[in-house]
Amino acid sequence: MFNYFNMFYIIANWKMNKTQDEAIDFFTKINSLNCFKSSLCKILISPPIIHLSAVEQYIGKVGLVAQNISCKESGAYTGETSINMLSSKVSHILIGHSERRKYFHETSLQLLEKLQLCIKKKIIPIFCFGEKLIHRDSNVFLSYIKDQLSETIFSFDKHEISNMILAYEPVWAIGTGKNANAAQIKEVHDFVREILIKKIGHSSALKIPILYGGSCNSNNAQTILKVDNVNGLLVGGASLDFDHFRKIIEIADDLS
Ligand code: PGA
Repeated sequence: MFNYFNMFYIIANWKMNKTQDEAIDFFTKINSLNCFKSSLCKILISPPIIHLSAVEQYIGKVGLVAQNISCKESGAYTGETSINMLSSKVSHILIGHSERRKYFHETSLQLLEKLQLCIKKKIIPIFCFGEKLIHRDSNVFLSYIKDQLSETIFSFDKHEISNMILAYEPVWAIGTGKNANAAQIKEVHDFVREILIKKIGHSSALKIPILYGGSCNSNNAQTILKVDNVNGLLVGGASLDFDHFRKIIEIADDLS
């Protein structure tokens, strides 16, 4: 298998699910797992922000991710959570998830501000991008993706970009039970790797993990992780059930 750094990220995005007790129960179980044979399999969990303080003490083998931050650093922004409030709790932050773009109308300009805050505070952004069905059906998905990246991550310099994680999440595959197939994933991941190489050079571009997300589960994880240029999975629905998520971790652990 060809993989740039032979390492996989498996990231759970719980979205707006689980009570605090359920979150603690999940973290307790994951820490008792013995399946982390490989230190090359990195597990991160993104619970609702309100649970971060409660689960902090249980993180052990896994890292913590915030699902969102405000694009402002502080001030009169009712209901928002700033990066300063999260920087001692998480190592990574999801930026640009399609649900944030769709339901909260987040624009590339706001995503750029959020990325700037991540860089400033030295927290790794997991930048999500991906086309809608209309772009795929009209065969403009690659240029749409290129624009999404140009308007955001390509405003940064080589060193800053090489400290980001990218996640290809075709909108039509998220929460639909219909994942992109291996050929579709390969086409986009190879394309993104090529743009990165052109933009920041070979050695920096090869350091950037490109994850796939969109209806990943224990049935398709192995096939997807074997695709060239796939460096991990961003898992939504299938990460909510502990036993199901454990199977995905075991698959990645075996392959890494
Ligand atoms: P899904 O969500 O696995 O439920 O499709 C993935 C995501 O939104 O990150």
